[in-house]
Amino acid sequence: MKAKLVDEVEDLRKTLRRHEYLYYVVDRPEISDAEYDGLMNRLRDIETQHPELVTPDSPTRRVGGKPREGFVKVEHSSPMLSLDNALNEDELRAFDARVREALGKEGYRYVAELKLDGLSMAARYRSNVFVQAVTRGDGRVGEDVTENARTIRSVPLRTTSALDHFEVRGETVMLRRAFERLNADREERGLSRFANPRNAAAGSLRVLDPSITASRQLEFYTYYLLVDGERYYPSHWESLEALARMGFKVNAHRRLCQNLEELLEFCREWESKRDDLPFEIDGVVAKVDSVAQQNRLGYTAKAPRWAIAYKYAARQAVTTVENIEVQVGRTGALTPVAHLAPVVVGGVTVSRATLHNEDEIARLGLQIGDSVVIERSGDVIPKVVRVHTQGSYRRRFQIPKHCPVCGGNIVREEGEAASRCINTNCPARLRESILHFASRNVMNIDGLGDVLVDQLVDRGMVMSVADIYDLTVEKLMQLDRMGKKSANNIVRNIETSRQNPLPRVIQALGIRFVGERTALFLADEFGDLDAITGASLDELQKAEEVGPKVAESLYQFFREPRNQELVERLRSAGLQFEYKARRRHGGPLTGLTFVLTGTLTMSREEAKQRIESVGGKVAGSVSRKTDFVVAGEDPGSKLDKAREFGVEVIGEARLLELLARGL
Ligand code: IVH
Repeated sequence: MKAKLVDEVEDLRKTLRRHEYLYYVVDRPEISDAEYDGLMNRLRDIETQHPELVTPDSPTRRVGGKPREGFVKVEHSSPMLSLDNALNEDELRAFDARVREALGKEGYRYVAELKLDGLSMAARYRSNVFVQAVTRGDGRVGEDVTENARTIRSVPLRTTSALDHFEVRGETVMLRRAFERLNADREERGLSRFANPRNAAAGSLRVLDPSITASRQLEFYTYYLLVDGERYYPSHWESLEALARMGFKVNAHRRLCQNLEELLEFCREWESKRDDLPFEIDGVVAKVDSVAQQNRLGYTAKAPRWAIAYKYAARQAVTTVENIEVQVGRTGALTPVAHLAPVVVGGVTVSRATLHNEDEIARLGLQIGDSVVIERSGDVIPKVVRVHTQGSYRRRFQIPKHCPVCGGNIVREEGEAASRCINTNCPARLRESILHFASRNVMNIDGLGDVLVDQLVDRGMVMSVADIYDLTVEKLMQLDRMGKKSANNIVRNIETSRQNPLPRVIQALGIRFVGERTALFLADEFGDLDAITGASLDELQKAEEVGPKVAESLYQFFREPRNQELVERLRSAGLQFEYKARRRHGGPLTGLTFVLTGTLTMSREEAKQRIESVGGKVAGSVSRKTDFVVAGEDPGSKLDKAREFGVEVIGEARLLELLARGL
């Protein structure tokens, strides 16, 4: 009996590994997620009943284990060197000349790879089982991040090779989509954003709690195979191919170049295509292919002489800060924005850069008139990196005492980074509030964009978001360039927006710290808006997902007479104050959004009902906000969308598990 079980466990693991490889590494799944989950559940069941059968390389072990106290330092088997840089084509030519000279008359080839912008990491395997992962650290000693790396799907827990033990090195990166999603989520929860995917990857790998790493969707791309600190294959190209065969992720965008010209071509090609990649790169790495030749070329103290990093012009530029202005946001927060002498950065002309807040300006030591280094990176909005040289006529910037838009008082509360305009009637705040109210993810009033809102506010036609519901075709047609057809459309969209469910209405109010997720929790917990407006501070705090900061913000919001009036007007306008979709209080899937694709064993309708009955939401299309895509047999393009957005894809079995137990 036991022997049979052992066989089954072995079989299950083997099958699961194969399908993980097909799914996560080469992106060519052969079975549905439901089948995969079925197998995984069977394995999990057996392991739960027979803990003695659990092995560290079992596919069930990818769950973040317990948080640790600190990282253990580990020495590298051979130093993890860095690379010399070539900052332009001439420097790359010079590198090639050095190689040619050192190799005499011999021919040689280069392997060109993309230089991924992440963190380098070494992963060690014994008898094909993943045993340890170490960050680069100072190159000689790194940190043990084994438990964290175990949660990364493209780190195989078991591989196939004839080698007894080996080490692979590569780059851990966060895909842009996952990065954007993470930042959007952090912003909603009032946390600071990560500046770029690289920092986010670092912050996700070097955390003490592996379950955080597990939730962050990192990828590990390998480029190096070592056995006892030495290269194993005679050429780099072969070792890349071997890595791919062993089950590791190797970036497909690589080329074996016969000469410098082909290498340059590869560099140029990817410089123009870099924005199309799902991850960020900062250049190309060129390596002499033959390991024998590499050994003859040798190393300097810091870097190999057989490789070079051709760095793309950083998307940085130097320009002058001509002025600093403040923008007033929806919550009244003032954001200083640098007005720059226009400059081209990575093909885009930039004339503004965000400075975040006063503390940031102080940290930079920036004054108007200074020349500064600006950068475009993961974020769309360029930022000021540092002061390059102080201007000869410099002027200190101060946050105004009065709002530049309405003249109202500006206040900076203790413990806050931002100063705020406290005039709730401020046109700038009003403008941003309307845009927020009408935005796609909130009340979704198509047509109510920037230009229109500016006019509505300037002419005093909308003085509160509630005024939106008094707009008519006739009124709208008084505006510049507004035809009857567009006016009709907008009025119709306003009309439809009255049907939006309560969570959206709550979100639309624009209460600080209350984003989509919190709004959903509130609606579900309280069931109607009046229960929320009437709740005591204590009651609010007791609600799921509502911390003291959020509770305080909600409580104060509804104490303001002005906001009370707004709520009444929205009620009269016929907005939804009751939450009909409210299901079992605090169901296990509360706050989670699902998208269904492909054929499940239960009908779509049944799946939808069951998800909603425990608090989840089912959406028709995949977006950044989707938490899970449930894929059945023959999934459609939603599956591709899910991958593109970095949304987790699950099968029916996992869905059933979630329905029963939640996350
Ligand atoms: S090879 C001795 N290949 O760039 C050779 N490095 O600037 C060591 N990197 O520390 C590195 N993509 O973190 C190599 N395809 C690639 C790479 C790559 C990114 C990183 C790596 C390294 C740094 C050096």
